[in-house]
Amino acid sequence: MTLADTVSDTPQHRSRPYRVAVANNKGGSGKTATTINLAAALAEAGYYVLVVDLDPQANASRRLNYVHDPANPQPTVSEAIKADIEGVAADAFAEIGWPEPYSERITLLPSRTDLENRTLEAGVLGAVLRLKKALDGADNDFDIVLIDCPPNLGHLTQLALAASDFVLCVMDPEYDGIDGAVTLRGFVDSKAALLHNPGLQMAGYIVDRVDTRTGAHRFQVETTIPELFGDDLWQPIIPERVAVKDAADAAPPRPLRALGRDGEDMATRFDQLAARLADRIGLALPTGVK
Ligand SMILES: Nc1ncnc2c1ncn2[C@@H]1O[C@H](COP(=O)(O)OP(=O)(O)O)[C@@H](O)[C@H]1O
Ligand SMILES: [Mg+2]
Repeated sequence: MTLADTVSDTPQHRSRPYRVAVANNKGGSGKTATTINLAAALAEAGYYVLVVDLDPQANASRRLNYVHDPANPQPTVSEAIKADIEGVAADAFAEIGWPEPYSERITLLPSRTDLENRTLEAGVLGAVLRLKKALDGADNDFDIVLIDCPPNLGHLTQLALAASDFVLCVMDPEYDGIDGAVTLRGFVDSKAALLHNPGLQMAGYIVDRVDTRTGAHRFQVETTIPELFGDDLWQPIIPERVAVKDAADAAPPRPLRALGRDGEDMATRFDQLAARLADRIGLALPTGVK
């Protein structure tokens, strides 16, 4: 199955693109790796993607080779949220530092450590809607928005959930990663209305960082995870492979397909997951140059 085979040819007739929060109540589960590599797969297929880095660790920003210059500071997602102005996110959109076609089709709303300061506003009435407000009117020219969440269900993740149409959960196949996924699902089910977003839906569940040599991983992937998530569990699983780390930690960081055969093998898996995502949310065919 390729992305082109599965995407709907029905126009979206929407004023703004679907927004997908990539989340789990657990760090190190592969959220950022999945966000970046799904964005790459979608861009290769011709889609225009906005990646919102909503983690103060700013891993997505760094891995997309966005370079923060302290001598020439630019606004980031933190300022966009703080401003509390509709459409203001556009002022903080940044280019990524990957080659074409990624640099043309992936735009970044970058993060810095000071994003953590936004959590101080959690008690302010209506503050949970500030990311939505910042994006509304700013992201209309993208086909899809992927929001890379921090590893918890606190205020920053709640900003993402309030702004999104779908939640995509990424888990590693260990107890805590699976537990984090179950907690996320329960949170979305029970709190979406309180986040002023009752239509929010789980899109699906991706398993990353699978070490097929580890018996416990095999058991979780073959038994526990399918029992818990059924048809919402997406295939293929993503194995733990050096290429993913090498792409993320290269100087400069680069897309998987720049890493030869091992990178290509992993990128193909993300192509299949991107196809599933497109199918799940009813993404229209790429609209071409915008
Ligand atoms: N499939 C994979 N194979 C190898 N390393 C991976 C894989 N997926 C993620 N990683 C690495 O594991 C670490 C945690 O992944 P990351 O995407 O940062 O998780 P999260 O965003 O959920 O905290 C990072 O060093 C990342 O490069
Ligand atoms: Mg991350």
